[in-house]
Amino acid sequence: MARIFITGSSDGLGLMAGQLLAEQGHSVVLHARNEARAEDVRAALPQAEAVLIGDLSTLAAMHDVAQQANASGRFDAVIHNVGLGYREPRRVETSDGLSQLWAVNVLAPYVLTALMQRPERLIYLSSGMHSGGDDSLNDLQWANRRWNGSQAYSDTKLHDLLLTFGVARRWPTVRSNAVSPGWVKTRMGGAGAPDDLSQGHLTQVWLAVSDDPAALETGEYFYHQRPIKVLPAAHDHALQDRLLDICREVSGVALD
Ligand SMILES: NC(=O)c1ccc[n+]([C@@H]2O[C@H](COP(=O)([O-])OP(=O)(O)OC[C@H]3O[C@@H](n4cnc5c(N)ncnc54)[C@H](OP(=O)(O)O)[C@@H]3O)[C@@H](O)[C@H]2O)c1
Repeated sequence: MARIFITGSSDGLGLMAGQLLAEQGHSVVLHARNEARAEDVRAALPQAEAVLIGDLSTLAAMHDVAQQANASGRFDAVIHNVGLGYREPRRVETSDGLSQLWAVNVLAPYVLTALMQRPERLIYLSSGMHSGGDDSLNDLQWANRRWNGSQAYSDTKLHDLLLTFGVARRWPTVRSNAVSPGWVKTRMGGAGAPDDLSQGHLTQVWLAVSDDPAALETGEYFYHQRPIKVLPAAHDHALQDRLLDICREVSGVALD
């Protein structure tokens, strides 16, 4: 039995992954933004070991959730699933002065990765939309440009890959992989999403617990349990280091 933490698991693919892992007999710790959503999660998955609480758009909550996670004990795997989608109509600025989309999609997984006791396996949710991401890493907070939600989302999903591969290089004993779940019909994916929802959580679960040799890779990007092509920029070591440096500067948290 493995112990797995899943961020942003009050709905969608995070909850689906939690449900499947619990069915398989694993111990699952879920996460919700507030007490009301935590109640919903406990009702949806009463077998969950615990539900951690915190709105991951602020640095204070990222620290707090990491602390709750560490206090609960070590995890075998963490699925960094939390995310906002490509249809955010405007730039929302957090109390830390950051773009909310970037804070939730990129900084939260970075800070939790850095502050939590290292698990054996890390899984990050990217997206096919990463291929439209801007690899200049300029103006990540959208302070100097007109908001474009789809572009901003694509950028964060490229950043998630830089984070995944950067962590895989820095921590060779930890398996750090990313997943494209397909475009599926969750609240984020929308009613018209064409891919198979019943497959959308399977690769994350497989990477979290399977001993299949293919699931024991590190520094890979998977779709339906197979490695797939990634934008070449995601494998650029200098770009990975720059993204990690930016996250360290913005958060004050180092990834040692
Ligand atoms: N669906 C797709 O087609 C698709 C495609 C590619 C990649 N992905 C990736 O897959 C992951 C999961 O997406 P999904 O489709 O399952 O999305 P979803 O149904 O919208 O679920 C997102 C989850 O994240 C939580 N969340 C969002 N902001 C939060 C915050 N500030 N603090 C705490 N929790 C927060 C939500 O909580 P609430 O319910 O309280 O809002 C919800 O539990 C994301 O990283 C997404 O980028 C999805």
